[in-house]
Amino acid sequence: MTEIGRGQMKVLATVQQKGGTGKSTASLNVAVAAALQGYRVAVLDTDPQGSLQLWRNLRRKRWPCVEELRSEALAGWLARNRLLFDLVVVDTPAHDGNTIADAVNVAHLALIVTQPTMLATSVAMRLRNLFIDHDIPFAILLSQTPPTLTARLVQWTDNHRRLGTVVQGQLAYRFAYQDAIAVGMGVVEYEPDGRAATEVQIVTEWILRRLELLNEP
Ligand SMILES: Nc1ncnc2c1ncn2[C@@H]1O[C@H](COP(=O)(O)OP(=O)(O)OP(=O)(O)O)[C@@H](O)[C@H]1O
Ligand SMILES: [Mg+2]
Repeated sequence: MTEIGRGQMKVLATVQQKGGTGKSTASLNVAVAAALQGYRVAVLDTDPQGSLQLWRNLRRKRWPCVEELRSEALAGWLARNRLLFDLVVVDTPAHDGNTIADAVNVAHLALIVTQPTMLATSVAMRLRNLFIDHDIPFAILLSQTPPTLTARLVQWTDNHRRLGTVVQGQLAYRFAYQDAIAVGMGVVEYEPDGRAATEVQIVTEWILRRLELLNEP
C-alpha cells in the first residue's frame, strides 16, 4: 500500500483544444488506477459530450466518483468537497477555451494530452505558450503513440521535451483502451497484466508523485 496524503486534495485537469487526442481516456484510466491504490478519486466531466457519463453508466464500481459539472461550478464544488477526495481529475472538452481556462485555474497540474502528430503538436504548443504566460503548471502526456518504440517516436518525445515536462510513460494506441471503456472499466481492471495496464500504472505513478500524493522512493 502506498503512503497516501489525506486532506490535501489535488486537482489534475486534462486538456487539449484538438479533439480526440485521448483526454477522456487518460482521465478515466488514471482515475481508476489511483482509486485501486486506495486514493479517494473524483472525475469531473465538464464536457457536454458526456463521454465519461456514458462510461460511468456502464460501470459497476463505486470508485472513482464521476460527476458532470459546468466549469463555472468547479471552484465551489472543490471547496465543498475538499475533505472528501485526495485526487480530482477534471476532464475538459476540446475547442472550448473558457472551460479549459476555468479548469486549469483550479488545477495543481494541467495535463496536455496530445498525440505525436504535427497537427496535434501545433495545437498543444499554443496551450503550452498560454500556460507559460500565465504561470500555469503543466506537463505533456503522449497518447495513442505507436505501440513499439521506433526512432520516429523517440524523436517526437524529444521534440515535446523541448516544449516542457513530458510525463514518464506514454499511452500507446491499443484496443484495450477502447474495449475497457466499452464495459465501464479502466485498463488496469480490464486487462491487469496487459501492456496498457503497465503504461497506465507508470503514468499514474508519475502524476501522483508530481502532485505530491505519493512520496515513497
Ligand atoms: N491509447 C489509445 N489507444 C486506442 N484508442 C484510443 C486511445 N486513446 C483514445 N482512444 C480512442 O480514441 C477516441 C478519442 O479518445 P478520447 O475520447 O479519450 O479523446 P478526447 O481527447 O477525450 O476526445 P474529445 O476531444 O472528443 O473529448 C476514442 O474512441 C477512444 O476510445
Ligand atoms: Mg473527451
